[in-house]
Amino acid sequence: MSPDAVLSVLVTGASRGIGLATARLLAQRGHRVFAGVRRPDAVAALAAELPTVVPLAIDLTEPATYRAAAAEIADRVGPAGLAGLVNNAGYAAPAPLEFLPLDDLRAQLEVNLVGSSGSPRPCSRCCARPAAGSSTSRRSAASWPGR
Ligand SMILES: NC(=O)c1ccc[n+]([C@@H]2O[C@H](COP(=O)([O-])OP(=O)(O)OC[C@H]3O[C@@H](n4cnc5c(N)ncnc54)[C@H](OP(=O)(O)O)[C@@H]3O)[C@@H](O)[C@H]2O)c1
Repeated sequence: MSPDAVLSVLVTGASRGIGLATARLLAQRGHRVFAGVRRPDAVAALAAELPTVVPLAIDLTEPATYRAAAAEIADRVGPAGLAGLVNNAGYAAPAPLEFLPLDDLRAQLEVNLVGSSGSPRPCSRCCARPAAGSSTSRRSAASWPGR
């Protein structure tokens, strides 16, 4: 693939932090960026700052949102497929495990484990093409409950 090729990439958790910086950098380099964003106000903010980026509502706790996003991406990219997925959305709940309320523990597992494992699946099936697709997940011990 040419270094000048325009690639289609989905970045989740693109409202702020590493996801926003990644979306910004890819857009500045001329790539076609789909940005997964959870909050409606963040969709508007992203569209205002990065008009070439396509914001898509994705909440890792709502599988219908990432299925719909994958379908929209598939429609937009066609046979070329997605070149990459930056599976970045997630959050840290820094607290010793034994003090973390169980509801908080369940909520974080739902996002960081279930959601971040489930959300790439529709994209992989609908969009990635064998020769081109790749994905990366942003995870660390600090993003797991109780660390
Ligand atoms: N920062 C670090 O040092 C570090 C190190 C290793 C790994 N990581 C991991 O890298 C990723 C990004 O880190 P960061 O520091 O940039 O985090 P951040 O600033 O807290 O941003 C997290 C992003 O994930 C989104 N998000 C949270 N819950 C979500 C959900 N249920 N569905 C969809 N999106 C959701 C947030 O959206 P909202 O704005 O709507 O909340 C936000 O866009 C995280 O997964 C983190 O665990 C971070």
